[in-house]
Amino acid sequence: MNVIIFGGGGGIGAALIKEVRARFPQATVFATWHSTQPDVSDVHWSRVDVTDEAQISAFAEGIGDVTWIVNAVGMLHTQDLQPEKSIKELDPAFFSHNLNVNVLPTLLIAKHFMKHLRHGQPSVYATVSARVGSITDNRLGGWYSYRCSKAALNMAIKNISLEYKRVLPAVCVTALHPGTTDTELSAPFQARVPQGKLFPTAKTAAFLVDRLEALTPADTGQFLAYDGSEIPW
Ligand SMILES: NC(=O)c1ccc[n+]([C@@H]2O[C@H](COP(=O)([O-])OP(=O)(O)OC[C@H]3O[C@@H](n4cnc5c(N)ncnc54)[C@H](OP(=O)(O)O)[C@@H]3O)[C@@H](O)[C@H]2O)c1
Repeated sequence: MNVIIFGGGGGIGAALIKEVRARFPQATVFATWHSTQPDVSDVHWSRVDVTDEAQISAFAEGIGDVTWIVNAVGMLHTQDLQPEKSIKELDPAFFSHNLNVNVLPTLLIAKHFMKHLRHGQPSVYATVSARVGSITDNRLGGWYSYRCSKAALNMAIKNISLEYKRVLPAVCVTALHPGTTDTELSAPFQARVPQGKLFPTAKTAAFLVDRLEALTPADTGQFLAYDGSEIPW
């Protein structure tokens, strides 16, 4: 069983690797890192900027059939800019950065890893999305760049699921909401999270691997929360 985790240096990505290693000791895990290589052995690490098509394509070259592909790359804020509270704060460069990191990689991975999913055995291509990307669920507003990027990501997932259903019917393509998780990404926003609703990364990873294990090709094209409940697009 080959598993690929994109964003293996991130909070959720690193925990996913640990959970997969623990549940499937015989699995071969390939993972990508971006700025700092994680000190984790038993993983085939590659440095990949997932917004760069040439790097994704080169990474794909060295890997055979894959059972699970998970994209856990994402961004919400930078050192200089926080998500917008008002449209007055919209910054075009920050908006483009959100789209580039939160949407494009899922499309590039879908393009370059089709051949790895052609084996015909049930497999999963999942991207870690966010509930705030749901248009139906949006009651608060704000966070323009992040919300728009996650909504676009969700459309990308839905689109990929429809094409894969025709040409790779054994693959389940899904968007997963991890729940609010204690990582660098959520760190500036944790103060308002209700008691018990901020998950340690290990808990989130356990939930997400539960989802990966439960998914079948018939579940393709869904937006699911960590507990398996369906989120409206
Ligand atoms: N944490 C939460 O509460 C929460 C809630 C809902 C959804 N999510 C989603 O969960 C996913 C994982 O987030 P996280 O909480 O684990 O955040 P995180 O700890 O900040 O991890 C994000 C990872 O993405 C990587 N990354 C950013 N740009 C990249 C690029 N161009 N190429 C390759 N890697 C890149 C980062 O690497 P570098 O740091 O090296 O750049 C980092 O390892 C994201 O999609 C996020 O939107 C998180």
